[in-house]
Amino acid sequence: MKPIILEAFAKINLYLEIIGDRPDGYHELVMILQSIDLADQIEITPNSTDDIRIECAHPQVPLDKTNIAYRAAKLMASEFSDAFVKHGGLNITIHKHIPVAAGLAGGSANAAAVLVGVNLLWNLGLTQIELEELGATLGSDVPFCVAGGTVIATGRGEQLSPLPSLDNIYIVLGKYRSLAVSTAWAYTTYRQQFGNSYIKDTQDLAARAAAVHSGPMVKAISHKDALEIAQQLHNDLERVVLPTHPQVLQLRELFASTGVLGTMMSGSGPSVFALCESKQQAEHVKHLVRETISDQDLELFVTRTHTHGIQVVSSS
Ligand code: C5P
Repeated sequence: MKPIILEAFAKINLYLEIIGDRPDGYHELVMILQSIDLADQIEITPNSTDDIRIECAHPQVPLDKTNIAYRAAKLMASEFSDAFVKHGGLNITIHKHIPVAAGLAGGSANAAAVLVGVNLLWNLGLTQIELEELGATLGSDVPFCVAGGTVIATGRGEQLSPLPSLDNIYIVLGKYRSLAVSTAWAYTTYRQQFGNSYIKDTQDLAARAAAVHSGPMVKAISHKDALEIAQQLHNDLERVVLPTHPQVLQLRELFASTGVLGTMMSGSGPSVFALCESKQQAEHVKHLVRETISDQDLELFVTRTHTHGIQVVSSS
């Protein structure tokens, strides 16, 4: 059997609001998630053994069972054990382009690609909804990475409703290679510092509705107006990550000083993005930032909004 090759896109958070605690220990969220045109390539090849093997040249990507792409393949093997016995093990090669531990859902996107790829390789015939449900058991961002586009996500981030798709908004994105922020740390610290502002009863629909402020952002997205969207960017986790990481704050302030439409940290960070008027502006901002921060530890990308989730590049 030939390999299947898929593209797994990163995301940014246009909006992240923390509503309260959930009985499962996670946080109740309202997020607006946006796919961007920055992708890892995932190659899945049947290997005629009963093993799942991860290959990746990136030094920060684990090759063992802690890799979420490995966990995705194991999940498929246990859920569809007859197909696993019939088709055998898999080599999963990750060509990494998305910065790691950056708040860009790189790992979740890799796991989503494995779910989509194995579904095709083993002819399982699972629907997108079924793949998203499997993905939710691996991580809160995996269902979005299957679906892609522009989505409002609630619950712990796994309940998705599509929004009008945003095409061709140019973005400049920065991430310090050596800086990693643990998502668990960001949420735990937020709970310690701001937990007293949470709504106490997440089943109380009226209290929940009063706590959600994403309406203006949804309206801006429906207008497809990049400036209006930029003015509504919001991320509660900035309140804990920026004070702890001055470099990230400095990058965000530098983006803001260049005349971009708006700037924000993505997810639990530490990547920071800025929405731009055009590709030219994004390239110009990248150049200006590089002139001010010559430190090669800072990776800078020009990218744009993307309208789809996992894409199959080639299959047999
Ligand atoms: O779901 P995922 O494994 O990506 O989440 C990583 C960590 O982020 C969780 O262990 C939890 O500490 C935190 N988290 C949270 N509430 C969410 C999503 C994530 O507290 N809705």
